[in-house]
Amino acid sequence: AIDAPPPDSPAAAWGSRIGVILAVAGSAVGLGNFLRFPGQAAQNGGGAFMIPYFISLLILGIPLAWVEWTIGRYGGLKGFNSAPGIYASVWRNRFAKYLGALAVLIPLSIYFYYVLIEAWCLGYAIDYLMGNLNLGTDVDAYGDHFNGFVGANENGALFSGKTLYILAATFALNFFLIWRGVDKGIETFCKIAIPAMVVLAVIVLIRVMTLGAPVADAPERDVEAGLGFMWNPDFKALLNGETWLAAAGQIFFSLSVGFGVVINYSSYMKRRDDVALSGLTASSMNEFFEVCLGGMITLPAAFIFLGVSAGTLSTFGLGFNALPNVFAQMPGGQWFGFAWFTMLFLAAVTSSVSMLNPVFAFLEEALQIGRNGAVAVLLVLGILGTGTIAFFSEGLMVLDTVDFWIGTFALFVLALAQVLMYGWAFGIEKGEREMHVGAHIRVPRFVQYLLKYVSPAFLLIVFTAFCVQNLP
Ligand code: PFF
Repeated sequence: AIDAPPPDSPAAAWGSRIGVILAVAGSAVGLGNFLRFPGQAAQNGGGAFMIPYFISLLILGIPLAWVEWTIGRYGGLKGFNSAPGIYASVWRNRFAKYLGALAVLIPLSIYFYYVLIEAWCLGYAIDYLMGNLNLGTDVDAYGDHFNGFVGANENGALFSGKTLYILAATFALNFFLIWRGVDKGIETFCKIAIPAMVVLAVIVLIRVMTLGAPVADAPERDVEAGLGFMWNPDFKALLNGETWLAAAGQIFFSLSVGFGVVINYSSYMKRRDDVALSGLTASSMNEFFEVCLGGMITLPAAFIFLGVSAGTLSTFGLGFNALPNVFAQMPGGQWFGFAWFTMLFLAAVTSSVSMLNPVFAFLEEALQIGRNGAVAVLLVLGILGTGTIAFFSEGLMVLDTVDFWIGTFALFVLALAQVLMYGWAFGIEKGEREMHVGAHIRVPRFVQYLLKYVSPAFLLIVFTAFCVQNLP
């Protein structure tokens, strides 16, 4: 009936309170933590990167995560699981729908390339298991293996028969989880995958931390020096705009904040489910994986064995070249390599399903074609998008282009729009009340003012700097 009170729980819902926390943490913890973060830190001077990084975490990352948890649950109870409806219920303006459309397109576009790298991780895990990656300590051998594996040829297509099967298997797993639904699919998978990831990553971490100084002709390159590369702060870098951009961008990417992903997940929550502590917990789990596991494994390892210094490592170089080299020089490297790439694959799956689910929810809501229909349409979109990137790309170039326009440019626009919507349209009084419905902790009041004034100003400054530096 029209005048029925709003329901206390949405139509589709999480099975448990810990379920939604693990699902959001699963979305956050991914290739960004283990490959992108160390790569960004290395390229931006190690310790120099960490100060802007933590400032961005406090000013943008965690507050925006709270916003998304709050408005997602709010919109969900009004009957919406996808961004156009959620935004429209927060901001009564025609324009809200179009912003919402952006929040569907961004995760979908990221999926197109993310799933490709996810499949490579599965392929590398299998190759380690089968002993195909015992290539000795010749640095070039791993580059050649990578090119052969992804099928990079002179046309630049990233494709080979082997990659096709692995990609198909990865797609199958992703779409099966979406089709099963948030509780039976995503939640169940995360409950198994995340503890497994902790165990696997800690095994590799212990191995790296106990290496000492294993390179005979470079005794100065020990674990301590490797850690120092990341942790010795460099205050000069605070004056460098690019470092700030990179740090803010990494925070968004890593926390999955600003993508329309967290609002989708939290829209399946019940009215009295906590969002304040949940948002903080999921963000903290992400930081644990990123700083304590991703950074502390990858940077010292690459530093010790390869002597890399700032600026010499790309994300791909790190993941598929430096680390295999590292494993090659350790006793039992094959098994550490297997553990590492299995962990990466699990982390990537729990992230990529979070990019698909908002699109799935949108298709279901907009087209009214039911669950199977929406999954089928999504599958066609996924195959077309990933296929385009894999077949017609100029090597890895297209990845960078998409990462730039979607992963950075559009993302800033959406994040800014979202925080303005919360602070100025929804309003921080209402926002603060909503944030504390069912809350297990109190979010300090200054966070609301931070969200209204400081976060948008910070975003605008960083975004302007970004445009000045990158646009023609
Ligand atoms: N946070 C994920 C990672 O660190 O790998 C990546 C990601 C997930 C980005 C979901 C965007 C997104 F919508």
